[in-house]
Amino acid sequence: MRITIPLTKAYHLINHGACPVITTGDGQRRDAAPINWTMPVCDDPFLIAAAIADGNFTDTLIKATGEFVVNVVGEALAPALLALGGRSGKDGDKFDALRIAAAPCRTVKPPRLAEAAAHIECRVKEVHPLPGVNLYIGEATHAEVEEDAWDGRHLKLEKIRTLHHLGGGLFAVTASARRYS
Ligand SMILES: Cc1cc2nc3c(=O)[nH]c(=O)nc-3n(C[C@H](O)[C@H](O)[C@H](O)COP(=O)(O)O)c2cc1C
Repeated sequence: MRITIPLTKAYHLINHGACPVITTGDGQRRDAAPINWTMPVCDDPFLIAAAIADGNFTDTLIKATGEFVVNVVGEALAPALLALGGRSGKDGDKFDALRIAAAPCRTVKPPRLAEAAAHIECRVKEVHPLPGVNLYIGEATHAEVEEDAWDGRHLKLEKIRTLHHLGGGLFAVTASARRYS
């Protein structure tokens, strides 16, 4: 069972810097790729920045639709995340090739990853072309999380075990949270 989260609280889904999978699509073509350089930049309105290599298929589809979806994945999807990052959607549909299930979104055309613990639907507000990379600023239009992975304010990290990319396929896995204040 998935629950909708108020958009002003939804930054908590990616506040801790986990590597998400960004899904894209125009209704006919679709794609999914891990995009580690994704971060919240404002909570109201909820804005997300994602740095995406110029010309990869994710970039092509975001340019075509002005939409993308940030999927919050955990350790269970680590093999899928790596496989998605190891090939391009230009060479064929990754969902079919890797047998990864997609599900429709509520407010945008791209699909979401059916198995992701949470997702945030976004519309592009601004694009900043930089050398080799496009920095997309998306405004969230809808956010959902699996009910048993959300404590009302934060992700239950012990449930999801989010992945934090150190580089070269090495990940830190966050399985607990501690309060210091
Ligand atoms: C863990 C991980 C993190 C990545 N982070 C980014 C990123 O922040 N930005 C980016 O453009 N590519 C990133 N990549 C590379 C893309 O996921 C990869 O180039 C992918 O094949 C692009 O697929 P596409 O052409 O279908 O969009 C990452 C790959 C991995 C494995």
